[in-house]
Amino acid sequence: MAAPYADEIRARFGEAVLPPAGLAVNETLRRILSRRSHRRYADRPVPADLVRLLCLAALSASAKSDFQQASIIEVADPARRAVLAAPFPAMPWIGSAPAFLVFCGDARRLERIGGLRGHDAGNAGLEGFFNATVDAALALQTCILAAESLGLGTCPISVLRNEAALVARVLDLPGKVFPVAGLCLGWPSGGDVGDRLEPGHVSLRLPPSLTLHRDRYDDAALAAEIAGYDQAREQRHPTPRDKQRAPERFGYAEAYGWSEDKARQAAQHEGAGFAPWLRGQGFTFD
Ligand SMILES: Cc1cc2nc3c(=O)[nH]c(=O)nc-3n(C[C@H](O)[C@H](O)[C@H](O)COP(=O)(O)O)c2cc1C
Repeated sequence: MAAPYADEIRARFGEAVLPPAGLAVNETLRRILSRRSHRRYADRPVPADLVRLLCLAALSASAKSDFQQASIIEVADPARRAVLAAPFPAMPWIGSAPAFLVFCGDARRLERIGGLRGHDAGNAGLEGFFNATVDAALALQTCILAAESLGLGTCPISVLRNEAALVARVLDLPGKVFPVAGLCLGWPSGGDVGDRLEPGHVSLRLPPSLTLHRDRYDDAALAAEIAGYDQAREQRHPTPRDKQRAPERFGYAEAYGWSEDKARQAAQHEGAGFAPWLRGQGFTFD
């Protein structure tokens, strides 16, 4: 009998990672191992009741201290949706996905509850911001897995944060409520078009020798592991020369891989305006 999850683990982590032996196959785990984002959707609506159910599943995620600092906004109004999508023409799925949610960190509610109870529940520091962010992220991923369990495809959208002021205006976000990510939802259709993801495929993850540690952290082999990972990814899905990121700034590389792409991306310091915007929303990060 083939080892359980062998195909899924090979697709996700490459040939070198052996699946654990002797476990029964569980459909939920199998789906998680082989999940992927979808950015192209069939012309078929996602019923409002189903979207609501997925939101309820999302809000069933665990929440730090039971503070419950996630809020989800379903963007049902096409006019608002169009305004949100307009700054991102390179990501047309933001405007075209059959359903769109915005997952927000909500540090405001706890302060208001403090007011109701007559206690100073100031929540503008790093702790409040961080807890609210984690809650929203857990709700987001819970929604993704719930949707995928029904055959829906999803794509989180954090690029929204680059236009946080616009998002806040369109969605009437008050102080201390901030977007963590949007989420496109729809029934998948065919391939996929991401910045470098064409056609759709399960994306190879970093080797667990780098990301999974036992008893103590150790990244001594990082350079060699990354070189191997770059090579494996390029073997599966070579990056065409015209997809190299920002050549006007970085030039063209002969050997282009994931690490070059991600280092270029990180060097562009996306999101530099987010912290000042958050300060304007009342966060002190103390
Ligand atoms: C918090 C978060 C924000 C993301 N933001 C975007 C985005 O703005 N646009 C987009 O097309 N994909 C976005 N993605 C999707 C990632 O690009 C995708 O998850 C990653 O390439 C790995 O692919 P996979 O989900 O298919 O495994 C985001 C994912 C996460 C978790």
